[in-house]
Amino acid sequence: MRLPPGRNIAVLISGRGSNLRSIVASKDTLGAEIRLVLSNKASAGGLAFAEEQGIATEVLSHREFSDRAAYDEALVGLLKKYSIDVVVLAGFMRVLGPQFISSFSNRILNIHPSLLPSYPGLDAQGQAIEHGAKVSGCTVHLVDEGTDTGPIIDQAVVPVLAGDTRDTLAARILVHEHRLLPRALQWLVQGRLELQGRNVLIHEE
Ligand code: GRF
Repeated sequence: MRLPPGRNIAVLISGRGSNLRSIVASKDTLGAEIRLVLSNKASAGGLAFAEEQGIATEVLSHREFSDRAAYDEALVGLLKKYSIDVVVLAGFMRVLGPQFISSFSNRILNIHPSLLPSYPGLDAQGQAIEHGAKVSGCTVHLVDEGTDTGPIIDQAVVPVLAGDTRDTLAARILVHEHRLLPRALQWLVQGRLELQGRNVLIHEE
């Protein structure tokens, strides 16, 4: 199945937004508009950056909702209001439920700081160090209903060095996140991805 091109991107964040910056830096070659930056936390550093860039921002706090389904429904409604058809999870620290995923089926990208399927979930860099891994890296994938389980689009490998801490490893991985995420987003919005089962093929155009 060839995935259709995209037009209007929302980037969902919860924190500093360095991956958001890498996406915004690529905006002239993306071929789609970064129309909205949304955070579940008003304190997310990436929101101020988005405002400086003239991108619309929204804060949708999960505290205002009784359960995940209600939050997800409100989130889908907000994204539809902005005519969003592609969603990027760039450090969005909330698990999205099945209603949300099915509303944007194969239209959601996530960046994860490990070589999936190793070390899904929280503190992937800490998990790699804890396991004594010799390499780790990052993965860009399509989001399905599991936690960090969707079809893999791209990965980069970095060494885990003797004496690494969670932070030194995270910094080494982050450089590659900033390279991979905008490129995978470009492939998706330009309709260059094909899904064959769990396998993602990347077409020249
Ligand atoms: C990144 O390490 C990303 O892989 C993970 O959350 C972090 C977000 O960092 N999902 P930033 O907010 O993009 O700087």
